[in-house]
Amino acid sequence: MTIWNLGSINADMVYSVPHLPRPGETLAAQGLDRFLGGKGANMSVAAARAGSRVSHIGAVGPDGRWAQERLTEYGVDTRNIAQVDSPTGHAIIAVDDHGENSIILFQGANHAISEDLLAGALSSAHPGDLLVMQNETNAQIIAGKMAHEMGLTVCYAAAPFQSDAVLAVLPYLDFLILNEVEAEQLKQSTGNSPSELPVEHVIVTLGAMGARYFHHDSEPVDFEAHSVEPVDTTGAGDTFTGYVLSGMDRGMPMAQAIVLANRAAALMVTRHGTADVIPDLKEVREARFG
Ligand code: RIB
Repeated sequence: MTIWNLGSINADMVYSVPHLPRPGETLAAQGLDRFLGGKGANMSVAAARAGSRVSHIGAVGPDGRWAQERLTEYGVDTRNIAQVDSPTGHAIIAVDDHGENSIILFQGANHAISEDLLAGALSSAHPGDLLVMQNETNAQIIAGKMAHEMGLTVCYAAAPFQSDAVLAVLPYLDFLILNEVEAEQLKQSTGNSPSELPVEHVIVTLGAMGARYFHHDSEPVDFEAHSVEPVDTTGAGDTFTGYVLSGMDRGMPMAQAIVLANRAAALMVTRHGTADVIPDLKEVREARFG
């Protein structure tokens, strides 16, 4: 099976700061690193490192060849990444001493994905493949509709969260992942709690408390997170999602996929950076947590 990821690709400019900047404050960074990032690219790399075949559908600008090459090096099929006139997306990320972050996004090429590119990519998909999307690209509705009609499992990571964006793709979804605050916001828009949404699999992430899994046929199940000393939480959620999707793609029971994804996310928060430092399956299996 293949995971088709309609996803963002960013250059992550990561500034280490003593605390997250306050309104009006000028703050000197203690360091600057550049990583491959974007919620989409992070999920593609995570799923590929977890053992899945991943085809990324996206766009970079004339300055983005390095990002495409890096995705290839990490085992992602990049044949459906277009080069467009808009500059490659980027993120300005401040990470404080406790590993917390704040992110400014420039969407750039991530919002210049053509329907032709999407249709061309999905013409090679097969029923039973997965399509994943996040809210950092254009073309989410048409992709969800197309994939649903083709019999793909349609997955949505509702980040960055916008109720309207979730509502627009909701009729096509088989899998939805969002955090606790977002689940409450979605309840206000739809009147439905996670267990009442018309989506077969829903995961609500609970930060350091782990995750809760909702499935139509059963009671919600809680999964505890591993306790680790965080260095940088950026990309940990994307790593979790990529590992869950790979588990689904490889036919694992959802509980097993979530347990593995929890381990991957725990390892990820002990590392500084995004796509480039996502752990592979061997590291995730062999990791020891206190
Ligand atoms: O979730 C982390 C990601 O959000 C970063 O890689 C950044 O590019 C933004 O998309």
